[in-house]
Amino acid sequence: MTQNHHKFCIAPMMKKTDKHFRFMARQFTKNSMLYTEMIHSNAILKGDVERLLKFDSSEHPVGLQLGGSDPNTLAQAAIIGQEYGYDEINLNVGCPSKKVKSGNFGVFLMKNVELLSSCVNEVKKNINIPFTIKCRIGVDDFEGEEYLENFLSTISDYGINTFIIHARKAISGLDTKRNRSIPPLNYELVYKMKDRFPDLKIIINGGIEEINNVKKQLNYVDGVMLGRKIYSDPAFLLQIDKEVYANKTNLEFSTGMQNYMSYILNLKNKKDVNRAITHLLQIIRKLSYTKEIRRRLLDNVKNTSIDLEDVFNCFKEDLDQKAHLQTH
Ligand SMILES: Cc1cc2nc3c(=O)[nH]c(=O)nc-3n(C[C@H](O)[C@H](O)[C@H](O)COP(=O)(O)O)c2cc1C
Repeated sequence: MTQNHHKFCIAPMMKKTDKHFRFMARQFTKNSMLYTEMIHSNAILKGDVERLLKFDSSEHPVGLQLGGSDPNTLAQAAIIGQEYGYDEINLNVGCPSKKVKSGNFGVFLMKNVELLSSCVNEVKKNINIPFTIKCRIGVDDFEGEEYLENFLSTISDYGINTFIIHARKAISGLDTKRNRSIPPLNYELVYKMKDRFPDLKIIINGGIEEINNVKKQLNYVDGVMLGRKIYSDPAFLLQIDKEVYANKTNLEFSTGMQNYMSYILNLKNKKDVNRAITHLLQIIRKLSYTKEIRRRLLDNVKNTSIDLEDVFNCFKEDLDQKAHLQTH
């Protein structure tokens, strides 16, 4: 990775940023950094690793996000991730879910910096690809400028130089969804950390939805990560290569969609097809002329056997017509 691909990152999101969504995202941006959903290190060691980790080579640059708090298991999982060809390993130190709390990982590692340090140390010495941390600005009463400064100082001493910071703290007892909206955003604190640690790469995350805000953030930090906005409106990505990376791009909405539909038609198992269609439905929800296509795709997800190729051909015709209207 020569370019700073972290300038624009698509956030790891469980049940959303699977390999199908990432393939689709790549149709709209070549430069942005992609991340997997969080995968627990135990699952990689004990589960169907091929199903969990295999990805299409077009996804590069792509990071594998791990969850867990056992140093050896995390290191083993990271080694496997590296062997699979991921460009980066990222550790989840930001998730506040109940499951995460009972497993004492995710954001709860921000309360146990000693354990986090052992995890970081063990992973770091076992891999030679970048290793990054995604955290919050704090959790419960582990918060404030001094706390975050000490946190970054301690962890960066283990050779970590890239931190993705969700600019709100987590509150135990709030469910995961509320923990993404109730604790207030504090971008200023993240900017302060960049001032305090100019050599660290700081990527800001949380509540960013507009291209102008993305650009504004880049005046203060090294990168910006967007989650919910991208999942609800993937076509937003079409402006990123040009606006953020200043690269000329010839990516187009209709070509990207057509590539994605061809990709779906090549998928072998029904579960994968349905997952991939769910993402497609998400994007065409925004298009007023696709009501009928949407209904037919939903039928497919609900298991009615329909001719998917036929639905896609209709959709391609709609897209072509729309593109024709736009250029004339
Ligand atoms: C459905 C969903 C699933 C998420 N799963 C993860 C995850 O697996 N790992 C993680 O670090 N963050 C996860 N997050 C948090 C996002 O990465 C991001 O930090 C959060 O949504 C704030 O960014 P946004 O305001 O741009 O959406 C998830 C968020 C959503 C909405």
